[in-house]
Amino acid sequence: MTDLNDSKPVEPQNADIFPADFVWGVATSAFQIEGAASADGKGPSIWDTFCRQAGAIADASHGDIACEHYQRLDADLDMIAGLGVDAYRFSVSWPRVRPSGSGAWNEPGLAFYERLIDGLIARGVKPYLTLNHWDLPQALQDVGGWANRATVDRFVEYAQGIAARFGDKLVSITTHNEPWVIAMLGHESGIFAPGLKDRKIALQVAHHLLLSHGLAVRALRAGGCKAKLGIVLNLAPMHPATDSPADRTRTTLEDGRLLRWYVDPLFKGRYPDDVLSDYGHDAPLVLDGDMEAIATPIDFLGVNYYSRSVVSASGSWDVKTNSTREVTDMGWEVYPEGLTELLVRLHRDYRVPPLFVTENGGAFKDIVENGQVHDADRTRYIAQHIAAVAAAMREGVRMGGYMVWSLMDNFEWASGYEKRFGIVHVDYTTQQRTLKDSAHWYRRFLAAQTSGRTSAR
Ligand code: FCB
Repeated sequence: MTDLNDSKPVEPQNADIFPADFVWGVATSAFQIEGAASADGKGPSIWDTFCRQAGAIADASHGDIACEHYQRLDADLDMIAGLGVDAYRFSVSWPRVRPSGSGAWNEPGLAFYERLIDGLIARGVKPYLTLNHWDLPQALQDVGGWANRATVDRFVEYAQGIAARFGDKLVSITTHNEPWVIAMLGHESGIFAPGLKDRKIALQVAHHLLLSHGLAVRALRAGGCKAKLGIVLNLAPMHPATDSPADRTRTTLEDGRLLRWYVDPLFKGRYPDDVLSDYGHDAPLVLDGDMEAIATPIDFLGVNYYSRSVVSASGSWDVKTNSTREVTDMGWEVYPEGLTELLVRLHRDYRVPPLFVTENGGAFKDIVENGQVHDADRTRYIAQHIAAVAAAMREGVRMGGYMVWSLMDNFEWASGYEKRFGIVHVDYTTQQRTLKDSAHWYRRFLAAQTSGRTSAR
């Protein structure tokens, strides 16, 4: 492993293993960067509403302004292209393009994404679009949100509308980002929008998310959409806190709740029996044909990876752990080998399509000094995780790409603007963007990849 610290320049690595068509990218999501919360006919999303609840967001902030990406689109696209990435993963704000989630579409909202997509293509960057990165139209929440089966139909219509307008230009369409987070953090613990606390509702939400994914994939394929279609899951290896039978049994269950509850339906067409029986009466209502729809074949599976979890018999997922490893500003242990473990396991246990790491990165406390940010910790984090992807590939895992979370500092959900994940620093007073050392490193790393590809030809 290259030694990465302040005093030494970081050398690109792993150039040997990544094929020429491996996709390198950076990722964001609409609510976290766009701002312009009610501009040009945009409707409110559940996150606009949630941010207004007292105590919901650590710094009492909201997404009204965020990174002003809506107003600064062209400059941000130049910045993305300047990094030398192959792809940009972004999401569409559903209430920006269809303010009530049903009924009329909003042309100025669609025109914004048209400029974004065309702007990427003009700069040689591939558009990787996510339909649902959590900002459900509030009007749909008002009639039950994801707990209401009718929202599944609204989502399929939304997917069809986006594909009809942009499908020819898109390389990739993700249906949902992290259904576990939407379902469980949004509806069981209530720390995310819409802030409900009811496990039975949460599990019905998870089912409707999976169902709407499968039905949307079917509908887009039937409509001749040429973009690659898939879904993105937040996954982490779960390790027992001790070797005790109680800790180990609990770890199996928690792994079932996070990973198998999503991956089994997608690739085996059924929920895992052990978790189903543990959920008992909270298990979702599943209608005939739902599981077949969920298991509709997909072209890729996206994996968002940040850390592992250490599970004890009480069921807690301690992402800090008692280890002596470095932790990020989120309190998450830096554990790159967990990414290798996870990718290899998906490859071995399931008939998965090519895997993408669709998010990976770290929040660290940054200091801007003379227009520079020396974030050696973030650079090290990214480099170690890229090496972990390479290690998985050496074990035979089919990998399609890797995307850094995130292009720039942004609204980190319940943490507000206090946590900075960007490889580009954002000054929220002036909106000035400053490339951190990690961005310069990534650009050099990608340039070396490309020259490696050229000389290999
Ligand atoms: C993921 C989210 C993403 C970002 C990172 C840190 O769960 O998909 O929007 O907040 O965590």
